[in-house]
Amino acid sequence: MARRSDLVYGRVMTDFSSLLQPDKGQAAHDIHLVTADGFEDWLKGRPERERETVKAQNFDAAADAMAILPGEKADDWSVLACVADPDNLVSWSLSKTATALPSGEYRLVDHEPGRAALGWLLAHYAFDRYKESDKPAKDRILLTGKPHQIDEIVALAEATCLVRDLVNTPAEDMGPADLQKVAEEIAAESVAALTVTQGKDLEKGYPMIHAVGRAATEDRAPRLIELEWGNPKHPRIAIVGKGVVFDSGGLDIKSSAGMLIMKKDMGGAAHALALANLVIGAQLPVRLHLLIPAVENSISANAFRPGDIIASRKGLSVEIGNTDAEGRLILGDALTRACESGPELVIDFATLTGAARVALGPDLPALFTDDEDLAAELAQVGTAVDDPVWRLPLWDGYEELLRSDIADIGNAATNGMAGASTAALFLRKFVESGTVWAHFDTYAWRGSAKPARPKGGEALGLRASWAVLKQRYATG
Ligand code: BES
Ligand code: ZN
Ligand code: ZN
Repeated sequence: MARRSDLVYGRVMTDFSSLLQPDKGQAAHDIHLVTADGFEDWLKGRPERERETVKAQNFDAAADAMAILPGEKADDWSVLACVADPDNLVSWSLSKTATALPSGEYRLVDHEPGRAALGWLLAHYAFDRYKESDKPAKDRILLTGKPHQIDEIVALAEATCLVRDLVNTPAEDMGPADLQKVAEEIAAESVAALTVTQGKDLEKGYPMIHAVGRAATEDRAPRLIELEWGNPKHPRIAIVGKGVVFDSGGLDIKSSAGMLIMKKDMGGAAHALALANLVIGAQLPVRLHLLIPAVENSISANAFRPGDIIASRKGLSVEIGNTDAEGRLILGDALTRACESGPELVIDFATLTGAARVALGPDLPALFTDDEDLAAELAQVGTAVDDPVWRLPLWDGYEELLRSDIADIGNAATNGMAGASTAALFLRKFVESGTVWAHFDTYAWRGSAKPARPKGGEALGLRASWAVLKQRYATG
């Protein structure tokens, strides 16, 4: 599989492949895995020097706890790590241990790292574009298994870090042109066709993208970035991502607290770029259409206004009830475009509503789809890859909340209820009926850190989506 490990616009990414090595019997420190319940019994069978040092380190045998065990010689010390279930490690089981250990090589005793290898790698992520960070030590883990397993885990770590880096980069350095550069890099490395429709050229074909983005300065002009890759004879899929590089709210301006992290409003685009990169890296036999509507929701004399009625690519007239409900507008035109090529599957990612966060909190992206099979598959594989997603309803009964007296549809529900569902219902108007479509209302952000998951940009729903694409399309 072709990996593009340094593929982050303008920056070199952590070399994750060097942190995960095939186990060829190299010298390495052992990591003993114990459970809280099994620890006492395990300890009884260990030499006295280990029993005493475990005590001296106040090892409390709770998940994530670790201690260093002295060996007979100075350099043959090993590690004791407490996990919930050594036979069923999850992605984050070894993350805290990876962060705490000094640089070196490590091997699990009697166990495979399995899913925990990803969390081991991600423990080495830090956003250091603007500040020399206390980067965690470069510790390696040895993985027994086939080389393609290593490639897959490394690709997932890279995809996650691409999302984090893009989201963490402030709006000033991550404008529409910067998102375009990321797409250009992917296109250049993979022989994909890139089309960018920009500025005035959007007016006719993509009036909603134009309306939302037109108030920005010329160097940050709105654009629709499209990438096509793969054999046209393969099944066609579309991946769409909301690329609002900064959401001020427009004339319906956000509060300062509400605006503070709105550099992350291109998180959907970051997910879409990362997923496209996974598809291409694995040479998945699909015809891929990536669409990123990229805009800045700015305020200026030519900004679109509450009460304006704008056209859409689909032909529906849209009354603007709130300029802060901008994501659904740019996605509406992009979804219309995606469906024109007749894809059998469309997935979109968007930091679309605060309501999705109120409903599900930061960990769970809201999933909307009318396709029962896709919903079940995403829920199942999401849990299996520690990237859970939660379905919310596309409830027909709420379509009336988007009614407008003088246009075909309004962009913001009038009573503020079921905000994530009404946003998804708005998007559905622009998806060709009969097309299998999944919409993720993702937070793309973590307000407080967890092991291997620092505060800041985060990929949520990405690995679940990738697992479904692999399950559906991978051959061999
Ligand atoms: N980008 C925001 C949604 C958002 C806000 C996501 C905070 C995550 C955290 C979106 O463009 C927006 O402002 N949506 C409004 C819609 C409303 C005006 C109908 C919202 O959710 O409040
Ligand atoms: Zn908004
Ligand atoms: Zn937004």
